[in-house]
Amino acid sequence: MEFSELVQERRSVRVFKQEPVPQEEILEMISKAVFAANARNRQMWHFYVVNNKDKIAKMAEIVTTRLEELAAKTGVSPQELKPVINAATLFDKAPAVIVVSTRLSRSKADWMLKENGYSELEIDNLRCRPDLQSIGAAIQNLLMAAWEKGYGTCWMTGPCVARPELESFLGITEPDSIAALIPIGRPEIVPASRGRKEAKEVTTFID
Ligand SMILES: Cc1cc2nc3c(=O)[nH]c(=O)nc-3n(C[C@H](O)[C@H](O)[C@H](O)COP(=O)(O)O)c2cc1C
Repeated sequence: MEFSELVQERRSVRVFKQEPVPQEEILEMISKAVFAANARNRQMWHFYVVNNKDKIAKMAEIVTTRLEELAAKTGVSPQELKPVINAATLFDKAPAVIVVSTRLSRSKADWMLKENGYSELEIDNLRCRPDLQSIGAAIQNLLMAAWEKGYGTCWMTGPCVARPELESFLGITEPDSIAALIPIGRPEIVPASRGRKEAKEVTTFID
């Protein structure tokens, strides 16, 4: 598939067929993901592939419980909460979920900022988390590699409301932390394009 076709045809898939995704196929996709540009080539990512139905269901339960706790404390009604839970747990309909973790990486420039009195949060705000940008590049590659092979994916950060609980369940420990969940499988439904703004709408040439 041509690159421009791949980029324009890819969709976020939220309804999957149940046929399993072979490990070799997932490894091939990850082998494309890791060619992403990444800060200082530190490759601060790891891919945890969960293909056990019970474990995926448990992960969805963990996210649901956390959202229910948050709703109870903020007076959000069950009716309002339902679509939020659905959007954050739809990964449980996929035959496999790729959990992508990241690891904070500090450069010499970051160190100099710290020595000049910047807090960790100020450094993150100033430097815009190169580790997360790197993860984003890898995930986009992963989504493309999956689509090229006929697999649908949905990049998800919604489940991260329960990030510590998911990390503890999956045995992901510091300094690694979950950045996103990517359910993957053969698409049952391919949605229509959500459309995009035109390039000239989002571009400014500064002469
Ligand atoms: C960082 C990020 C987080 C996202 N989180 C979710 C999510 O939690 N749940 C969901 O259903 N979709 C999620 N999406 C998918 C977007 O909703 C989707 O990419 C967007 O609506 C455009 O649709 P398309 O991917 O089909 O072009 C996320 C996408 C990105 C890039």
